[in-house]
Amino acid sequence: MAIAMSRTETPLAYEDIKPNIGTRILNSKAELLAGELGPQIRELLQDRGVLVFPKIGFTDEEQIAFTKTLGTFAAEMSSEGREEVHKVTLDVKENPQSAEYLKGSLYWHIDGTMNQVPILASLLSCKVPATWGGNTGFASTYAAYDALPEEKKAAIDGLRVRHGAWASLFFYEPEPSFAKLKGYQAIGDTELPLVWKHASGRKSLVIGCTAHTVLDYSPVESAALLVEMRDWATGPAFTYSHEWSTGDLVIWDNTGTMHRAEAYDPACGRMMHRTKLQGEEPFE
Ligand code: OGA
Ligand code: MN
Repeated sequence: MAIAMSRTETPLAYEDIKPNIGTRILNSKAELLAGELGPQIRELLQDRGVLVFPKIGFTDEEQIAFTKTLGTFAAEMSSEGREEVHKVTLDVKENPQSAEYLKGSLYWHIDGTMNQVPILASLLSCKVPATWGGNTGFASTYAAYDALPEEKKAAIDGLRVRHGAWASLFFYEPEPSFAKLKGYQAIGDTELPLVWKHASGRKSLVIGCTAHTVLDYSPVESAALLVEMRDWATGPAFTYSHEWSTGDLVIWDNTGTMHRAEAYDPACGRMMHRTKLQGEEPFE
């Protein structure tokens, strides 16, 4: 008989999806909900950008509990501080307030560029996949920055970029009414660094469909640089496109990736449930 029992520790089980982005986690639901893997999952998320939990099948309560094993739960603005999942769908019947705003999510973006401290991560669970399309694409803005030629890194170091939700409006509605544009502009406009120098020492690009103006550049140079950076960062080396099955959960590090929903039929019933982790680091 053993005189001392050693505490058993669940090892984190995982496999990488692509060299620069994406890892599949293979632990069971019970192991994940036990919570002791939380810190390791957080570390791997920062390292890999996107973590996929294939067909893990969390209920809403389980998703909320699991989210809390990773950090501080961030309530959605619309839920007034309540800890609940948020429905992500383009279907106006299901989500009257935000289906319009979610049209911007069809273009590469970072969540929360209107805040100085953006959310740390989002967790998205697939309740109903799309009938066609509807993958979620992810791009590592860490890997994309790291792979830039040194002259390019030097040329963009220190540049500042203005972001506004209104800029994303033009992606899906090129000729909005004046009233609608003013409504979007009232959401705000922020100035962020093009290269985010994280406390960890790593650097990532801050771009996406909310970026509209590079400070001190002419309009032509500004558009060219923003498109050049987005085109570079969303190339095949830095991206992963997740094809959803019911029950899948995907987490992305919102501080080192961009993401977008790929086109789908808004009326097809595609339904995702989202939770978020509070940001811990300002854009700097
Ligand atoms: C989001 C988002 C993409 C998708 O929830 O922030 O951009 O595929 N979702 O639904
Ligand atoms: Mn988003």
